[in-house]
Amino acid sequence: MSDPRPIGVFDSGVGGLTVAAALSRALPGESILYLGDTARLPYGTKSELTVARYTQTNVDFLAGRGVKAVVVACNTASALALPHLVTALPVWGVIEPGARRAAAISAGRVGVIATESTVRSDAYARALRALRADLEVRSQACPLLVPLVEEGWFDDPVTVEVLRRYLEPLLEAAIDTLVLGCTHYPLLVPALRQVVGEGVALVDSAAAVAAEVARDLERLGLRSEHREGEDHVCVTDAVERLARLAREILHRPVRLELVDLGDGGGGTR
Ligand code: DGL
Repeated sequence: MSDPRPIGVFDSGVGGLTVAAALSRALPGESILYLGDTARLPYGTKSELTVARYTQTNVDFLAGRGVKAVVVACNTASALALPHLVTALPVWGVIEPGARRAAAISAGRVGVIATESTVRSDAYARALRALRADLEVRSQACPLLVPLVEEGWFDDPVTVEVLRRYLEPLLEAAIDTLVLGCTHYPLLVPALRQVVGEGVALVDSAAAVAAEVARDLERLGLRSEHREGEDHVCVTDAVERLARLAREILHRPVRLELVDLGDGGGGTR
């Protein structure tokens, strides 16, 4: 049995394409319908209620387009909005898979880097401690990293310097594992390596969630073996900007579409 409907993936912007890429690697037979809510980015500075409202609109949009399941690629939305979400579809967030991978490999000291809202929610630290009470967790909000990635400065000296400043307290705390708690950060791995060296394990939630989605789709009888057509990327604003980054992240052609989610936009910062 094969279910050809696409997997829906959404993020506040382009960063979630790292999750789409990881899903494509783990599940080469699946089609992906991606929604980047670029009109309302960033989510990482917004309140729980606003992020929950945006998340519901995004999932309703993907459901209306006929997806069979949804991956919430955005760490901020996973941390703040999943408990509020109402949907009949199977849904995965990125916090639990990332926390499970970190808990499985850490020698005891875990650092988490994420947006301000994700750090404030304490979602990673709670998930990690629920898995292993012995873990020492240090979290660091890194608000400058998303704009640097959106600018394409993946391993620019400025980015490396910014990372040095953010990571100093975590390195002083002798972390052995670092959770990349934001969709954009997997693109910074070469820059991160320059700062943390080889002795710290980097946990990419994108790869972690892809492995869990592959396993669960099989269990639910929802797997597809044959991808139908190219990936389809919907954005709520700035198609051209996304087209450039999508090529850099996915390394393959995508069909781009500008969509209007029709909820009046707006939110609190
Ligand atoms: N996608 C967000 C996350 O993973 C980062 C970008 C934003 O602030 O919206 O937390």
